[in-house]
Amino acid sequence: MCELYCKQDTLALRGKHIGPSCKVFFAADPIKIMRAQGQYMFDEKGERYLDCINNVAHVGHCHPEVVKAATKQMELLNTNSRFLHDNIVEYAKRLTATLPQPLSVCYFTNSGSEANDLALRLARQFRGHQDVITLDHAYHGHLSSLIEISPYKFRKGKDVKKEFVHVAPSPDTYRGKYREDHEDAATAYADEVKKIIEDAHRSGRKIAAFIAESMQSCGGQIIPPAGYFQKVAEHVHNAGGVFIADEVQVGFGRVGKHFWSFQMYGEDFIPDIVTMGKPMGNGHPLSCVVTTKEIAEAFSSSGMEYFNTYGGNPVSCAVGLAVLDVIENENLQGNAVRVGNYLTELLDEQKAKHPLIGDIRGVGLFIGIDLVKDHEKRTPATAEAQHIIYKMKEKGVLLSADGPHRNVLKIKPPMCFTEEDAKFMVDHLDGILTALEEVMGTKNDSVISENTVCRTKVPKEVHVELPNHSATESRENDSRKRNGVCSDQHALLSKRLKT
Ligand SMILES: Cc1ncc(COP(=O)(O)O)c(C=O)c1O
Repeated sequence: MCELYCKQDTLALRGKHIGPSCKVFFAADPIKIMRAQGQYMFDEKGERYLDCINNVAHVGHCHPEVVKAATKQMELLNTNSRFLHDNIVEYAKRLTATLPQPLSVCYFTNSGSEANDLALRLARQFRGHQDVITLDHAYHGHLSSLIEISPYKFRKGKDVKKEFVHVAPSPDTYRGKYREDHEDAATAYADEVKKIIEDAHRSGRKIAAFIAESMQSCGGQIIPPAGYFQKVAEHVHNAGGVFIADEVQVGFGRVGKHFWSFQMYGEDFIPDIVTMGKPMGNGHPLSCVVTTKEIAEAFSSSGMEYFNTYGGNPVSCAVGLAVLDVIENENLQGNAVRVGNYLTELLDEQKAKHPLIGDIRGVGLFIGIDLVKDHEKRTPATAEAQHIIYKMKEKGVLLSADGPHRNVLKIKPPMCFTEEDAKFMVDHLDGILTALEEVMGTKNDSVISENTVCRTKVPKEVHVELPNHSATESRENDSRKRNGVCSDQHALLSKRLKT
């Protein structure tokens, strides 16, 4: 019999066999989702949640066109790419048509990690260099080769940084080394990379690749300053290395105006390798590495063949094609621009109103809300962020908090997110922030502390009543009984520094 290994709080709350192999959202009170449609998920009681988390369900959960394409191909054939098949050829053509011309060779894989691992192999084979420059707080996947280049992970664990890995500062102009008041943050951050290269050369090391997400997601929804990537690419190319753009989270039109996030930095910036995953299959495991002919030929001329049992199979490619069709047919890029702009406007209004909001940043439907305890020092409001995401869950809105301080609310919903959804989310956020700030103001910051998602006794004011949402109200009452987190019940289970 198979045991579900989940977080310890789940054990306490639900009496299940649990362990350390699975990390769930809302660990103190996880949700069991039974079905989903579009931008909504439904739990075992039929309660609806607005999904602001799932960028994988890119064109909407269980999109009928994607389901139909997968089913149809499943009924006919699924096999590996050792046999000729039209789907893989058509899909490669459609994908490369979205990219600048030099990016013309596709390797199909099954996860973002597989794609990034292969990208590293291609980069290292290209000139025989080994070293990799990565950004601080980056996450590029769960394989050993990627944990090594993911400070987001290796800094948390006991792993030491490997000697062939070099960590450049994250080009974060809100909280990073060079901020918005710097006269040329792009050059300053790029010069950090240049210095890393020079130091590596002095130690006799050679740079194979610089890897970065086109916008850092786990790293805290960071958008690098204009011109940064061009300058980095120049330094890296001069060192004989290649530029890998990780578009696993941020590709496929999420930024709206462009299909790939790297394209928003200008036509003069073209990565040598682009990796993609998550939204590509709308939940079906499908990913890809796209590179230039020159890099691909260097790889194959070494005698290295690439074979992947499932990569590029006819079903996966049918799914990938259907996702591209839906993005186009439903004008989801246009939707990302329209709804993204509207949501950003609403959030900017909230920023003016709530001292807890330090920064709103984002493009299209990729937005971060950086929560701070004070505007001047920009002290991350970590515990407050945790509190907010649990309270939002009670209101039926799924959000997550990430970044090095876990104080950035991440918004990356399915691309069918509407203006009504945006308003619904922001109204609840407004209510929760108002209540929280009131409590913090009157009780002198004693309510929320770093390691607790909720205080022992939640003051009445924190449970914000929103008279316009009666459906949510009944859920609220129900979930107060059922949910541990912001109720007295959970308080008994939660660790607290201050209460
Ligand atoms: C930027 C980035 N790259 C790569 C990966 C790894 O993708 P996967 O989990 O599909 O292996 C992730 C996963 O979260 C990611 O966020």
